[in-house]
Amino acid sequence: MAHCLICGMQIDPFITFGKMPIANGFLSADEFEKEFFYELKAGCCSWCHMVQLTDHVDPSRLFHENYAYFSSISSSMAKHFEWFADTVQRDYLRGRDPLVVEIGSNDGILLQHFMQKGIRHVGIEPSANVAQVAIEKGIHTVCRFFDEITAGNLLKHHGPVDVLIGANVFCHLPDMHSVMRGVQRLLKKDGYLIFEDPYLGDIIKKTSFDQIYDEHVFYFSLSALSFLFSQYGMEVIDVAPQEVHGGSMRYVVGRKGIHTIKPEVYALMAQEESMGLTLASACDGLRERIYECCEQLRRLLQELRQQGKRVVGYGATSKSTTLLNFADIGPDLIEYISDTTPGKQGKYSPGMHIPIESHQRFKESYPDYALLLAWNHGTEIMANEQEFQRQGGKFIGYVPEVKILG
Ligand code: SAH
Ligand code: TMP
Ligand code: ZN
Repeated sequence: MAHCLICGMQIDPFITFGKMPIANGFLSADEFEKEFFYELKAGCCSWCHMVQLTDHVDPSRLFHENYAYFSSISSSMAKHFEWFADTVQRDYLRGRDPLVVEIGSNDGILLQHFMQKGIRHVGIEPSANVAQVAIEKGIHTVCRFFDEITAGNLLKHHGPVDVLIGANVFCHLPDMHSVMRGVQRLLKKDGYLIFEDPYLGDIIKKTSFDQIYDEHVFYFSLSALSFLFSQYGMEVIDVAPQEVHGGSMRYVVGRKGIHTIKPEVYALMAQEESMGLTLASACDGLRERIYECCEQLRRLLQELRQQGKRVVGYGATSKSTTLLNFADIGPDLIEYISDTTPGKQGKYSPGMHIPIESHQRFKESYPDYALLLAWNHGTEIMANEQEFQRQGGKFIGYVPEVKILG
């Protein structure tokens, strides 16, 4: 029986996806035989209502010197992080010679803006290959996992932190209590923890169940996070919905009673209550909608195959590993997946072993349909692929519903 990573209560999964490979585990043909699988299951804690995985993969299997995700691959994410850095500098960096620490700084997509302005900064990034890219850009990066011990070392070498940032990383941290003890030690008395992650409300509203995979240990709501922070004398003082990654939430957190809580926090709390996110039944109904989506998509792809149409995948995302494996979509239905990341090209998708090809290949011979696996970058992709669409090509979406897009 699994236990809640936040409050320790027993937790039953609301969905079991069965055996899944590592979501970012793109592999070569000679690695098929020794591919690693685990049970992907998600549950909602009946006591603190934190939605989370109930079986976990050891983080050292996920984040290492061959980590496949380079943040800077998307130009819309690059813009988003430039704006994020500006917001932090304008609204939260005060005093002389402030220090910014980022957890999960990847290739430096966010910290580069602080570096360029001469602001003291440290990135904590355990995946050596992406950390190396940041180091080459001149960004001060420490290659290790953030936890209480790392926080102690940081404090010793750099002193207390004004702003601690995390983008798409807090939901990756199974040992959240060690992380929170670290945050508590590191932050100045009036410092801020600012982080953003995919938002549970969006996942439920859009049935974006492909957000559920090994790296995403938690699916946050404001209410469940508030319970966690209250155990560490901290509170959420501001929230801001973000469009990135299919619907994210930015949370600004401070020590209790130090900062004024913005009205947006109370408004989101009320919204979560009316959506039922503050109940143990938060994810009821999601399971049925997941099955329906997978069945519809599989049926559509089978029909297109019978009509002799060429279908490829667009974007070898980590999310797509859950979709493709659970819906049993393999190379019989998808010819290949186009992806701009050089390290993924020439490899195969985890579990289903669909070949990953360059975007050049896509452009050289447009297919009839492209399954939009990188749906979270849909606007950017549709704008870049007007020629494909002019030549009669169509995208297939599956979030929030299976649909042939223009
Ligand atoms: N912040 C970037 C990267 C998100 S991917 C962005 O939003 O694009 C998550 C990153 O967190 C990976 O680079 C991974 O190596 C890193 N990570 C995972 N566990 C971590 C931990 N305990 N401490 C710091 N970084 C971690
Ligand atoms: P993400 O959903 O985790 O951000 O991953 C996006 C993946 O999609 C990444 O492997 C890069 C790929 N991609 C493309 O191939 N073309 C594009 O235009 C974009 C935006 C992403
Ligand atoms: Zn709990």
